Amino acid sequence: MSDKGHLPSHIAIIMDGNGRWARRKGFMRFRGHREGAESVREITRECAKKHLKQLTLYAFSQENWKRPQREINLLMKLLKEFLIKERKEINDNNIRLTAIGRVHELPDDAQRELAITMEGSKNNTGMILCLALNYGGRAEIVDAAKQIAKDVRTGKLGLDEITEETFKQYLYMRDMPDPDLLIRTGGEMRVSNFLLWEISYTELWVTPVLWPDFKKAHLEEAIKDYQRRERRFGGIRG
Ligand code: IPE
Ligand code: IPE
Ligand code: MG
Repeated sequence: MSDKGHLPSHIAIIMDGNGRWARRKGFMRFRGHREGAESVREITRECAKKHLKQLTLYAFSQENWKRPQREINLLMKLLKEFLIKERKEINDNNIRLTAIGRVHELPDDAQRELAITMEGSKNNTGMILCLALNYGGRAEIVDAAKQIAKDVRTGKLGLDEITEETFKQYLYMRDMPDPDLLIRTGGEMRVSNFLLWEISYTELWVTPVLWPDFKKAHLEEAIKDYQRRERRFGGIRG
């Protein structure tokens, strides 16, 4: 039962602190987001090298629409740039790109680049890179509940067939394993509506390091810490 000593197969990251990083250096917030994109590149490459099954990155939350329109536009521009520029790197590293969240509400051009990169990497057999975009954990559960209600109404699903396993089949992450390790940078001790269902038994690791400063050495530190832990899933020492 214990996962002690093992590499996590699925890591999820709340990439926080870009704005603070910029402020501390006397830059505009945008510089922080741009630097943050460099960390995405480095961490993705490292995780692929370690043969992780999946890396899930919280890139834009549903709540992030509350930010000034200028910042939202810049974030969407950076997303588009990332999707275009990283196509080669994604394929060179045998990575398959996927996305979770209400992706259909993103600007059309971002959706288009996302679709192209996903399509171009769909036959890759290495790590899955899952971007959480316009993502909200409660929305994910509500979307699942709606679809379940529809299926029950049309007779496709029986009431007694609604189990934890079938429920999971209605979530955005239906085909993916739950994260073993959730990393949050920037020091906040909160989940911010990320993967509510999926992190029930995930190991949490929070660091004050701001996302643009988060590099390979910090990833190693998080993984080492994870490997020292004993996961009991409600049981007793194995
Ligand atoms: C995280 O950095 C990036 C996104 C939420 C897109 P922030 O922009 O939240 O940075 P802080 O928390 O203000 O420092
Ligand atoms: C969490 O960061 C969301 C992402 C990293 C995309 P926020 O900066 O939006 O989170 P809160 O508002 O501090 O909880
Ligand atoms: Mg933040």
